[in-house]
Amino acid sequence: MAARRPLIVGNWKMNGLTASLGEATALAGKVKAQTPAAELGLCPPATLVAAMAATLKGTGIGVGGQDCHAKASGAHTGDISAEALKDAGAIYVLTGHSERRTDHAETDATVRAKAQAAHRAGLIAIVCVGETLAQRDANETLKVVSAQLRGSLPDDATAANTVVAYEPVWAIGTGRTPTEAQVAEVHAAMRQELKARFDDGEGFRLLYGGSVKPDNAKSLMAVADVDGALVGGASLKANDFWPIIEAKGFK
Ligand code: PGA
Repeated sequence: MAARRPLIVGNWKMNGLTASLGEATALAGKVKAQTPAAELGLCPPATLVAAMAATLKGTGIGVGGQDCHAKASGAHTGDISAEALKDAGAIYVLTGHSERRTDHAETDATVRAKAQAAHRAGLIAIVCVGETLAQRDANETLKVVSAQLRGSLPDDATAANTVVAYEPVWAIGTGRTPTEAQVAEVHAAMRQELKARFDDGEGFRLLYGGSVKPDNAKSLMAVADVDGALVGGASLKANDFWPIIEAKGFK
């Protein structure tokens, strides 16, 4: 099995206007000056996917959507298909981010259907899982994350078309992070789950997400079975994002 290539993805969430494309350009400039070994992605709001994909063409930085509908087309006002994201230049799409699970009542079955849609359209699905603070306090983390993983990954998932992001809900946007031991425990359990179900389970990239910042990236990215990061707030500015890329992206 080939070594897993690190992957660092920025999730801009509901932030970013046309002027923010300057940050993507700034990031591209840094990449050009010092090419990282890691694969890099940015997931802007849907309104910016096409423009960002055009801006980043040929830079090696991929663009992703933050969500997609399970269907390829149809009467679903306001929704965006995986095919439309692909057409706009995306290569990734996040599915099952905890903010989608919470704000839009997405279940594991919904997330699985969306990941399948991503594969149908030729996108890499970045499937997000993670426990709430109440679940961690109740010692249910491994049970919850394993169940989410089982329910959210479609049978057609492969190491090439699917990435898993472990994002503890209580660590997202809070400045709090799990200990390295806690991250290692969850990532090891996810790896075991993937190996048991998929022939190429060893090859799936497992990202950590939740308050990854320039000052904690190095230690989090050094944890066993952490193949990269899904970064929210610190991905909005190229100058904050770059040290995180440096933490995993250079050998
Ligand atoms: P954060 O968000 O880095 O701002 O905590 C991470 C995420 O939700 O993907």
